[in-house]
Amino acid sequence: MSHNELWYEDFFDQWYLKYWIQPITAERTHKEVDAIIRFLGLTPECKVLDLCCGQGRHSLELSRRGFQVVGLDLSETLLEASRRQAQEENLSVEFIQADMRRISYENEFDGIFNFYTAFGYFKNDDDNQAVLNAVGKALKPGGRFLLDYPCLEGRMVDWKQQEFFEYDDGTIMLHEMIHDVFDQKIVNHVLYITKDNQRHRTGFTLRHYYGRELQQCLQKAGMKTIGAYGNLDGDKLTNRDIRVLVVAEKTSS
Ligand SMILES: C[S@@+](CC[C@H](N)C(=O)[O-])C[C@H]1O[C@@H](n2cnc3c(N)ncnc32)[C@H](O)[C@@H]1O
Repeated sequence: MSHNELWYEDFFDQWYLKYWIQPITAERTHKEVDAIIRFLGLTPECKVLDLCCGQGRHSLELSRRGFQVVGLDLSETLLEASRRQAQEENLSVEFIQADMRRISYENEFDGIFNFYTAFGYFKNDDDNQAVLNAVGKALKPGGRFLLDYPCLEGRMVDWKQQEFFEYDDGTIMLHEMIHDVFDQKIVNHVLYITKDNQRHRTGFTLRHYYGRELQQCLQKAGMKTIGAYGNLDGDKLTNRDIRVLVVAEKTSS
């Protein structure tokens, strides 16, 4: 079974919200936000864009800490959850629905971040490049971009083609990850089976970018890579790390 190349229009639904996002603890998000602030060098008056903000866990926490935040995402389901939470806490985060390839800002943000694997979604490389071009345009000169992305070399150390998770409500999720080496993509098949035997099949495909490729793409988008780190603490990236945090700075106006 293969899924449609527009998978990203369907995958981020109520199932995703319930089984991928809601299990993330507030403590983990707080640590990620500490790191986002540090990597982007944010000070309280800074304006920040959470690119592909999802249910807004980082945007909301940054707003609680006094930053001016815009959260952008395509999924109406996730944006609705973000807006509801912001309203409940009386936070003034601006949540907007848009495609990450077509963000309309110019010289607007001191920092932009894209967290928890929201890059490489498009089959066509020009579309993935368009995301970085839009980031380059939306940053103020000297502004920084943080990309949190899987590190394939580290994952290869203990590659699991299949995994399964059992949730507290009795739902089981089966997840198959196929690495298409030559095409540099990871094809993910996901099947949820609920306690009452309801089945939901879905999936996603990530175009994988190696470090040097990514640096070239960032450069094309008017940014210079200033570091690549293997964890939230900012330790230098190694071939054992399963994520890479890339920090780039806008060089041109
Ligand atoms: C893996 S989630 C990350 C969510 C969030 N950054 C977090 O850390 O919880 C990826 C997000 O990208 C969004 N997305 C997918 N395709 C998109 C697109 N073309 N334009 C904008 N957002 C998109 C999804 O709706 C989803 O919220």
